[in-house]
Amino acid sequence: MKELEIMEAIKTRRSSRSFEDRPIPEDVITDIKDAIMHSPSGSNAQESHFVIVQDKNQILKLKRFAQGVSGTPAAIVVLCSNKQEALIRGGQDTAEVLRFVNLGIVASFIILVAQSHGVGNCPARSFHQQSIKQILELPEEVDPELLISLGYTDQKPRPKTIKSVTEVISHERYNYSEN
Ligand SMILES: Cc1cc2nc3c(=O)[nH]c(=O)nc-3n(C[C@H](O)[C@H](O)[C@H](O)COP(=O)(O)O)c2cc1C
Repeated sequence: MKELEIMEAIKTRRSSRSFEDRPIPEDVITDIKDAIMHSPSGSNAQESHFVIVQDKNQILKLKRFAQGVSGTPAAIVVLCSNKQEALIRGGQDTAEVLRFVNLGIVASFIILVAQSHGVGNCPARSFHQQSIKQILELPEEVDPELLISLGYTDQKPRPKTIKSVTEVISHERYNYSEN
């Protein structure tokens, strides 16, 4: 399948919550790893860590403590942050705020790469942090902050409402717009 153009990937992507029992091809996993490695981070601190889970038993274990993960995805990418490393490599602002901004940016890379390959995806923040940490054997200073489910969707997405452009975007200054 030809990879989708970036804007097409952005506009067609919707969260997937039900999946076929079909593995993710290795080239898609490779592209996701490349996207992670090329994602920017404040001060280039690179304090994040990622655990890619494809083992079915491990996925089922994670699901038990992750109510935000619907269906049975073929893979789950666990986006983790290391506060200690963030402080050492980036300073106070990175430790307090930028490490989460960094994870948000890499999350969008991951879901768009998945979408460009026709692989469904859904971020999830609803999970029990300590349990996920234990299952993945994360060290003390590393915390899971976001899960991203990946898999081939077997359902149509739910309808979605979006705000009007003028409610969300201003030009030049807040709520002033000639466009
Ligand atoms: C940071 C973040 C956390 C989310 N957590 C969950 C979650 O725990 N469970 C869930 O079903 N969806 C979760 N979502 C998916 C949102 O519900 C979804 O993106 C939103 O409803 C818009 O729908 P769309 O992704 O289809 O455009 C999360 C999305 C983001 C960005």
